[in-house]
Amino acid sequence: MQSFNWGVIGPGNIANTFAKAIAPSKKGKILAVASRSKERASEFAETYHIEKTYSDYGQMLADPEIDIIYIATPHNFHYQQAKMCLQAGKHVLVEKPCTVNAEQMKVLVELAQSKNLLLQEALWSRFMPCLSQLRQLLNEGIIGDIQYIQSEIGFAFQKRQKSRLLKAELAGGSLLDLGIYSITVSQFLLDEHPDIVTAMGQLTDQQVDGHVFANMHYPSGRFAQFTCSMLAQTSNTMRIVGTDGYVNLPACFWDTDKAEVFRDNSLIQTIDIPHPVNGFEYQIEASMDCIQQNRLYSEVMSHRDSVTVLEVMDDIRQQIGVQFPQEIEAL
Ligand SMILES: NC(=O)c1ccc[n+]([C@@H]2O[C@H](COP(=O)([O-])OP(=O)(O)OC[C@H]3O[C@@H](n4cnc5c(N)ncnc54)[C@H](OP(=O)(O)O)[C@@H]3O)[C@@H](O)[C@H]2O)c1
Repeated sequence: MQSFNWGVIGPGNIANTFAKAIAPSKKGKILAVASRSKERASEFAETYHIEKTYSDYGQMLADPEIDIIYIATPHNFHYQQAKMCLQAGKHVLVEKPCTVNAEQMKVLVELAQSKNLLLQEALWSRFMPCLSQLRQLLNEGIIGDIQYIQSEIGFAFQKRQKSRLLKAELAGGSLLDLGIYSITVSQFLLDEHPDIVTAMGQLTDQQVDGHVFANMHYPSGRFAQFTCSMLAQTSNTMRIVGTDGYVNLPACFWDTDKAEVFRDNSLIQTIDIPHPVNGFEYQIEASMDCIQQNRLYSEVMSHRDSVTVLEVMDDIRQQIGVQFPQEIEAL
């Protein structure tokens, strides 16, 4: 069996989730970790039994033993770092959002195509079998014809003074971090991209979005509506409503291993597929499968899907007046 050596850029919060998820993999392992801080790299390497550490991202990219890089830094760094990885000939799995705007994503897609390398946005929710199974049931008409989807996602980040979400220079705000899940999961379940988007929002002192209230209309005539917030603790649930019933995705809907299907207000079916580890394992295995099959992305979260979700977020940001510093929006 072909096996893959991973390198991790940015051993912070989410990199730990990644490291736990890949540990039982038969196909891949983390061979190296790179951090601007030697100490942080060493500590992460010790915790997860990683052979090599680098205190310079570029040096890790020059390591011929590394096949694929996982980028786990804040959003504003993704574009330049993914570019560096692809230019160094490495496949890349990039945390969400893959870039801060759609134009940057298009540049990365062209680069990945020219290099024949995997460029995968790490939109973990979309790889979960619970959601695929639900999509199948919805397509079979388990709640009749879907009419609309409603969801909310939010946490009170203003209480965490150091949170990157509060900072415009780190592409903060609720939309790119949280609202992205409502957009992408709705897109996945409806299997189409919105043609009309309207939004209102409340900006913080730092001019990032504290709350966003958005409506999306799809070419089929269906709707999706969501609220995302970094100033409020919300229910973190999603509801898919059809002519004959509805489906509840309980909190946290983007990490879902459960879906409850109701008809006539009675529970008629539950999908329950516990994650083997923490839910990250599906996207990790899918990335390695893609490389083996010489594919540049997974159909579950394609380049077009990444671009379109970013276009929706670009549109919303424009409507509510959120613009990040020019240096992180630039190509
Ligand atoms: N899928 C999910 O459930 C999920 C959950 C949380 C986050 N995420 C995504 O993962 C990404 C990282 O989020 P996180 O919360 O893990 O980030 P984090 O812990 O704040 O930072 C991760 C790493 O990024 C680098 N970094 C952080 N702040 C920096 C700064 N000001 N300047 C330069 N480098 C900086 C550091 O790398 P060095 O060690 O090299 O200094 C740090 O170790 C985000 O894009 C987020 O959307 C996904």
